[in-house]
Amino acid sequence: MKTILVTGGAGFIGSNYVRQLLLAGEAKVVNYDALTYAGNLENLSGCENDERYRFVKGDIRDRDLVRQTLTSGGISEVVHFAAESHVDRSVEGPEAFVSTNILGTEILLEEARRAEVERFVMVSTDEVYGSLGDAGAFTERTPLAPNSPYAASKASADLLCRAFHHTFDFPVLVTRCSNNYGPFQFPEKLIPLMIANALEDKPLPVYGDGQNVRDWLHVSDHCRAVDMVRRAGVAGEVYNIGGCNELKNLDLVGLLLDILGKSRDLITFVPDRPGHDRRYAIDAGYIRAQLGWEPEVSFDQGLAATVQWYLDNQGWLQAVRSGRYRAYYEDMYGRGGRHDAGEGEG
Ligand code: NAD
Ligand code: TYD
Repeated sequence: MKTILVTGGAGFIGSNYVRQLLLAGEAKVVNYDALTYAGNLENLSGCENDERYRFVKGDIRDRDLVRQTLTSGGISEVVHFAAESHVDRSVEGPEAFVSTNILGTEILLEEARRAEVERFVMVSTDEVYGSLGDAGAFTERTPLAPNSPYAASKASADLLCRAFHHTFDFPVLVTRCSNNYGPFQFPEKLIPLMIANALEDKPLPVYGDGQNVRDWLHVSDHCRAVDMVRRAGVAGEVYNIGGCNELKNLDLVGLLLDILGKSRDLITFVPDRPGHDRRYAIDAGYIRAQLGWEPEVSFDQGLAATVQWYLDNQGWLQAVRSGRYRAYYEDMYGRGGRHDAGEGEG
């Protein structure tokens, strides 16, 4: 059974991916995550007891620990999710984005190459392409034109992957996905933030005129696509992933309020995000044709199920909002905790 290193496995998409891998039962998983504010091991509660799962608390910028982890665990593949991921935070402070997303990715690439890893999947984003007008969709040949510090840092990492393949023949595969939604998303992003505020009858802050368009994909469909690329993608290739599911922010927020049975009066227009990209849309024709990937979750069902998940998991939501989730690591992996495994590891 092969061992896959998943970076950022305690985050939103990474934790969904780790669960999917463990369910498939074909691989062992090492989850390497620094547990920043966005990393929450509660997202993986239950997995601690799975013999095929191991957690390493580590930063991708920590070259020694990255090297040690890559060489000591029989790891043959890497799926790289770890990143600073929130555009608004990148507007407030770009440095952490440059540091983790660019430098961290470069360290991971170098050490994975040194360790002769056989597959390296870079989870990039559609935001590297910049913003669209009213028509058209991003293809893999659309020139990169990132607009936010987040997008620029992801584009840099994405291009480093290209360079490692071109220069060293290192087997890197890149995915560029549109906006994800689903369980375990940190409530700073649009959908969980709006659900959380609506539940408390707080105003829902819509940026600008609310006419910005995003192309929404359920996280389980994204994770299946990433795994298809890992298993069957061609090294050096880029795969766009998207749901063909464009919505204006204002319409999406309205839908959420309808599902929750709350008044649209909660919607509050607030000043726009600086540099706010107007529209994203993905042409996922290449991954469909090459790997046979199709989204399985319809948006109506996926959105209703997501709202229900947040309703059923208000303890999770409150723990995240209050910061209590940060105690989970100590409880589980800290000194004397259930999974205390000493320095650096759990
Ligand atoms: P997230 O913020 O929920 O999770 C990021 C995870 O990375 C966290 O667990 C965090 O602790 C970890 N991390 C951050 N810095 C680290 C570091 N220096 N070392 C080790 N771990 C670190 O993000 P997400 O929404 O799950 O996104 C995961 C990946 O997918 C990111 O690379 C993001 O750019 C990409 N992506 C996200 C979306 C989306 O809609 N959320 C869409 C396309 C691509
Ligand atoms: P977000 O979830 O931050 O994803 P991204 O910026 O990476 O696409 O935001 C999705 C859209 O929702 C984006 O157009 C910005 C907008 N938005 C709001 O209008 N209000 C909010 O409070 C947030 C967080 C986002």
